[in-house]
Amino acid sequence: MKIGVIGYGNMGSMIVNNILKLNLLLEDEELIISNRHLNKFESLIEEYPDENLNITSDNTEIAKSCEKILISVETPQFKEVMDEIAPCLNENTHIIYTCAGLNFNHIKSFYDGKLSLVIPTLASTVTSNNAISSLSRRKGVTLVKHNSKVELQERLFVEDLFNEFSYVKKIDNPIYFNEEEDNLHPTDNELEISTILTSCAPAFLAIMIEKLAQTSSELAKVSKEEAEDMILKTIIGTALLKEDQSLSNEEIINKVATKKGITQEGVDLLDKKLTKINRELVKCLLNRFDEVKEDMNKTYLNK
Ligand SMILES: NC(=O)c1ccc[n+]([C@@H]2O[C@H](COP(=O)([O-])OP(=O)(O)OC[C@H]3O[C@@H](n4cnc5c(N)ncnc54)[C@H](OP(=O)(O)O)[C@@H]3O)[C@@H](O)[C@H]2O)c1
Repeated sequence: MKIGVIGYGNMGSMIVNNILKLNLLLEDEELIISNRHLNKFESLIEEYPDENLNITSDNTEIAKSCEKILISVETPQFKEVMDEIAPCLNENTHIIYTCAGLNFNHIKSFYDGKLSLVIPTLASTVTSNNAISSLSRRKGVTLVKHNSKVELQERLFVEDLFNEFSYVKKIDNPIYFNEEEDNLHPTDNELEISTILTSCAPAFLAIMIEKLAQTSSELAKVSKEEAEDMILKTIIGTALLKEDQSLSNEEIINKVATKKGITQEGVDLLDKKLTKINRELVKCLLNRFDEVKEDMNKTYLNK
């Protein structure tokens, strides 16, 4: 089977490199990748010269020969790519796309085939192939949603692939699922909120680390790099307390903050401020999702 990937940017390259690092291609499988600028592939070809890996600058070559096509271009470019490849697709082609903000209804206006939306996260980047099982190497959460044309085996192909290096969360709440529209009820924000928590969150965590390290280095004789290193090691250790020992947030707080102690002052301050900041953050992101959706409605549905 031939698997195509169109777009070798942040997400496309993360997924391709994970597949290759983890040797996920079967004997009879071939990966064909395309990107607008081919120079991005130089190190990939050097690193994997013997793999069943082919590079092309021609998206239609992928469309003609691949049963599964992962499209990972920026959201506004998706239509351009589909217009280019649609004449070469057949009814068995399964399009898997990562474009946030683009729903099945938008695409249905110009393509009525099998579609899976996958929202990956940079957090799932594979850094080593040492883990014995996929369970022990999973990092980050991938959101997956299929339209009603995608059959069970095809659903499993996508979910099994992303399960190799991440935890898969399926978005298909049966209460809200509207078969006719192949879409979620408009008032249900499960996909958007989950996207904020999984795919956007690495950037939010990074800015928090950056700001805390910066402030610490300004107030003490500790370099920013040293401060960042201390924060990172503490974040990883704290995450493992929750993961390995199932400690609740409250238990961790109680173990660290003695009543009227120094830590408790900080906990009280953050408790007051964070609810407001988090509400503002989520509200502003949901507004942005609405704006993108409106743009998509204008572009694809003339609404
Ligand atoms: N970044 C994230 O963490 C993240 C997470 C979840 C979902 N997403 C979604 O995933 C999509 C891709 O995001 P990204 O961050 O990977 O974007 P990106 O880094 O900008 O990558 C897009 C890639 O598509 C290539 N491209 C554009 N037009 C093309 C065409 N006609 N044919 C072939 N290749 C083409 C670009 O090539 P050149 O650079 O060579 O021009 C670029 O390598 C977006 O829709 C985004 O919403 C992103």
